[in-house]
Amino acid sequence: MRKKILYLLLLLALTQKQTFAQVKSANGNMLAATPPMGWMTWNYFADQIHEKEIMEMADALVKTGMRDAGYRYIFIDDGWQGGRDNRNNIIADPQKFPSGIKALADYVHSKGLKLGIYSDAAPLTCAGYTASLGFEEQDAKTFASWGIDYLKYDYCGAPPDAETAKHRYKTMADALRKSGREIAFGICEWGDRKPWLWAAEAGGQLWRTTGDVRDKWKRRSEKEGGEGILDIIDVNAGLDQYAGIGHWNDMDMLVVGLNGKKGPSGDLGGTGCSTAEYQSQMSLWSILTSPLAATNDLRTMDEQTKRILLNTEVIQLNQDPLGKQAVRKVNDAVWTILVKPLANGDYAVAVLNRSDAVQTADLKFADLGLNESYTVRDLWAHKTVAKGKKWKGQVNRHETKVFRLKNIK
Ligand code: GLA
Repeated sequence: MRKKILYLLLLLALTQKQTFAQVKSANGNMLAATPPMGWMTWNYFADQIHEKEIMEMADALVKTGMRDAGYRYIFIDDGWQGGRDNRNNIIADPQKFPSGIKALADYVHSKGLKLGIYSDAAPLTCAGYTASLGFEEQDAKTFASWGIDYLKYDYCGAPPDAETAKHRYKTMADALRKSGREIAFGICEWGDRKPWLWAAEAGGQLWRTTGDVRDKWKRRSEKEGGEGILDIIDVNAGLDQYAGIGHWNDMDMLVVGLNGKKGPSGDLGGTGCSTAEYQSQMSLWSILTSPLAATNDLRTMDEQTKRILLNTEVIQLNQDPLGKQAVRKVNDAVWTILVKPLANGDYAVAVLNRSDAVQTADLKFADLGLNESYTVRDLWAHKTVAKGKKWKGQVNRHETKVFRLKNIK
């Protein structure tokens, strides 16, 4: 009898352990407990990437203070692949990566950074390079052996239905988990199959919610390809319930500092943005807990670009440990207003002027559900601008004010 009880207890312990392990891995093992931050190759270089320039970007992340502000990843996007060897192992293009990806990963790690890579759930990637369908376990092992920390997994060349997508993403997520290395997983099917409903369960830490961002404020016509900053906000501001610790709505890359130059950001109508618009992107991507992947040339940043990308008070909102995406409280022709609760009890409030003219905001916090009195810190002006139950002030066209409200006890 005693033996039987002991046996049952042991069985119980084992099943509980297994359940725990499953819960843990379903949550992505707390990979990406806060939204990943870093620099991504695509918008500046497209597929014309080279290890030398990637190393220079890694150096620049350190030198500019971006690493210490939280930008920890170098994300290699499409164009690194050189096919497969005679054992079907995926290899890097030897012209672009003469030292190999492992050497690059070692270099990046030596700087206190992490390395991300890119593939696609079909035979070929979006830019026509070798991809991973049918080679998931083998490629995941290769990535692990190189020291890769993150995989962006695209969906060009795959069928349109959601069931296949779930299956293909889960297959790669499982392969990554079995690879022997902790590799965060970014799902990129552009929001077409509502990934916020299934991507976390399939094993993703983040999922793109829209088509590709371009260096522009908004799409000028329905027909124009490429998403502007405002187009992406309008999709994501309604998806707050799906984000949380370890699983994030990915609003695609930052275009801050591209200034209408270079790479895919110049196609599909990417003509550049004003400083206020770039500042809005940083503000809204932060408060909506999107990953923050800069894509500009970090080696030659002007002061405005640095000021925006290195606003640590705004970054803190993005990386807040409570992991709540801001909720949209107001959305009309002029204003979009979002509120995000923070771990220490403060609230972040973003006030976007969508219109093409300067506007005066007359904000009563109670209308946003914030019923106390607060000290109001402007996170772009870096000072307290009000105390009490309201804020009134001017907001320029396409500008976003970001406030941190602290309850006055
Ligand atoms: C797709 C993705 C982009 C980028 C390119 C690379 O368009 O959505 O973010 O990775 O492919 O080819």
